Amino acid sequence: MSQKINADDLVVDFVGGAVGHRFRKGEGRGNALAKAAGLARGVTPDIVDATAGLGRDAFLLASLGCKVTLIERSERVHALLADGMARAAAEGGAYAETIARMTLLHGDSRELLPRLKPQVVLVDPMHPPRGNTAEVKKEMRQIRAIVGADPDAEELMKVALACARCRVVLKWPLRAEPMAGIRKPSHQILGKSTRYDVFVNARITPQPDKD
Ligand SMILES: C[S@@+](CC[C@H](N)C(=O)[O-])C[C@H]1O[C@@H](n2cnc3c(N)ncnc32)[C@H](O)[C@@H]1O
Repeated sequence: MSQKINADDLVVDFVGGAVGHRFRKGEGRGNALAKAAGLARGVTPDIVDATAGLGRDAFLLASLGCKVTLIERSERVHALLADGMARAAAEGGAYAETIARMTLLHGDSRELLPRLKPQVVLVDPMHPPRGNTAEVKKEMRQIRAIVGADPDAEELMKVALACARCRVVLKWPLRAEPMAGIRKPSHQILGKSTRYDVFVNARITPQPDKD
C-alpha cells in the first residue's frame, strides 16, 4: 500500500543520530565506501560527491581527511545541507574540522563536473524503487518525496567517467543489475544492502595523509 510521505521534518544532522554516532565511534578507512573511493595508507584523494543528498557519504569521507566538494541540484535539499553544515561547524572541534574540508555547490553535476576536473567522483543517484518500501529508510523516502527519481543518472555517470582523473564510484543496490549503458566496473565492493561499483581510470597518486 503506498503511503503519503511528509518531508517537512527532514533535517540534515551531522551531530546527532546515526551520522554523529558513526563519527564519534571513529569509523575508519576499512569502511566499504572509503575503500571504494581509494583511501589507503598515504592515499587521501580529493573527491567530488556529484549527488550530495543529505551529505552523509561526503561527511564520512571528509571525516577521514578527504577534501570533498558536494554538488546538489535540488534547491530544497541544498538548503537543508547548508543548514546542517553550519550547525556542525558551530559545534567546533572535530566537527568544524570535518566541515572545513567540505565545499557545497548548488547546481547540476553534469554541467559542473567538467570544470572541476575531479580526482574521484562519487555518484549515488536515487535508486530504482524497491518492492518493499519498508526496507527503504524513512530519510530516503523523504528525499524521494522532494526530488523524485533521477532518470538522468546514466547521463551523469557518462559525464563522471569522462571527467574523473582517477576513478568513479557508483553506489547501487546490492542486488540490482549493473547500470545500463555504461562500461563494466573494474571491481565491486559489497556492503550489507548496497554495493560500490568502482570504475578505475588511473592510479590515485599517493599523498601525505591529511589526518
Ligand atoms: C540518493 S541521494 C544521495 C544521498 C547521499 N549519498 C547521502 O549520503 O546522503 C541523491 C541526491 O542526488 C541529487 N542529484 C541527482 N542527480 C544530480 C545531478 N545530476 N546533479 C546534482 N545533484 C543530483 C538528488 O537531488 C538527490 O538529492
